[in-house]
Amino acid sequence: MPNKTKNRKADHIRISLEENVRAKLVTTGFEDVYFVHQALPEVDRDKIHLATKIFNHEFSAPIFVGAMTGGTKKASKINMSIAEAVEELGLGMCVGSQRAAIEEPQLEATYKIVRKKAPGAFLAANLGAPQLVQGYGIKEAERAVEMIEANALTIHCNPLQEAIQPEGETGFAGALQKIEELVQTLQIPIIVKETGAGISSEIAEKLERVGVKGIDISGSGGTSWAAVEYYRAKSSADTHHQKLGESFWDWGIPTVASLVEVSQSTKITLIASGGVRRGTDIAKSLALGAHLASMSTPILRPAIKSTSEVMNTLKFFIEELRNTMFLVGAESMEELKNTPIVLLGKTSEWLRKRGFDPEIFARR
Ligand SMILES: Cc1cc2nc3c(=O)[nH]c(=O)nc-3n(C[C@H](O)[C@H](O)[C@H](O)COP(=O)(O)O)c2cc1C
Repeated sequence: MPNKTKNRKADHIRISLEENVRAKLVTTGFEDVYFVHQALPEVDRDKIHLATKIFNHEFSAPIFVGAMTGGTKKASKINMSIAEAVEELGLGMCVGSQRAAIEEPQLEATYKIVRKKAPGAFLAANLGAPQLVQGYGIKEAERAVEMIEANALTIHCNPLQEAIQPEGETGFAGALQKIEELVQTLQIPIIVKETGAGISSEIAEKLERVGVKGIDISGSGGTSWAAVEYYRAKSSADTHHQKLGESFWDWGIPTVASLVEVSQSTKITLIASGGVRRGTDIAKSLALGAHLASMSTPILRPAIKSTSEVMNTLKFFIEELRNTMFLVGAESMEELKNTPIVLLGKTSEWLRKRGFDPEIFARR
């Protein structure tokens, strides 16, 4: 991998660990989402069934570790810890962009490790929309999929990050058509994900029309890529890009607003991410129409330490999810999806102004 790309990847990990890269003024909207507590839940907590079948794959709980890395030694260790943990727990993960290994095949091992360590888990491959526009096609997509024997291919959209990076690739015209070509040729589901700025109902409808099978909304309120690029620019005394990063720090569609927009306007399989920090956030996401929930930054620090740290972190999320389901009397994913949700505050206002009725969730 060219040194520049390698340094950039290392910077992303370092900055995500050392700096506060969370959105400042914008929040996910999970704080606007209330379950209705059931004082007599009429379920046994230990009998709650968390398993779910998504993309024809059995997940022991609806949890997925979001795309982060690959291409360096440290990345390989991170991928290994996550892979071992999701295999053990029966969950899934997405690798970071595989562009590095497409460009330099000797880096493939840093990604291949995930299938080696997780022979039975749901694994998603990952390429970027800008690379598709610049000429990546079926051949590169198939290589990415084969590299990790992936169950799905994820295409990430990161226009915010590209617009702030000094070396950003901002040619996005034609990306949808390239995605459509992949959908028509590849035998596995294509998932389109954002990277922290959310997906609108308009974009989701277009993606559904071309046959995309999954959307990972990755809304704002969690990790801000403008913030990550702010710190990168700061460390190289690039005041222009530092200022740009600051201006767009809070850009994006808050996670809950994005989730409801997409769940109400498509029938697509939906992954909720962007600032999912508790099992209650996972439960809220599922009750609002998500099929899986995903976290990236909360898994990064444990993954650098060990597999068991990742397992403990994921187990705690599962414990919180189970408790939430107990407190609303939901024994299964199906029951959780039908449990009442009260949407208040700015999320409710956003949805109303965009033509969605937040009250439908409260009256079921
Ligand atoms: C260190 C790091 C590297 C990332 N690299 C990628 C990537 O290569 N491809 C991708 O699709 N998303 C990447 N992401 C974005 C995440 O998948 C996710 O969409 C985003 O961080 C929001 O989720 P969070 O708030 O749980 O962190 C990365 C995130 C982090 C923290």
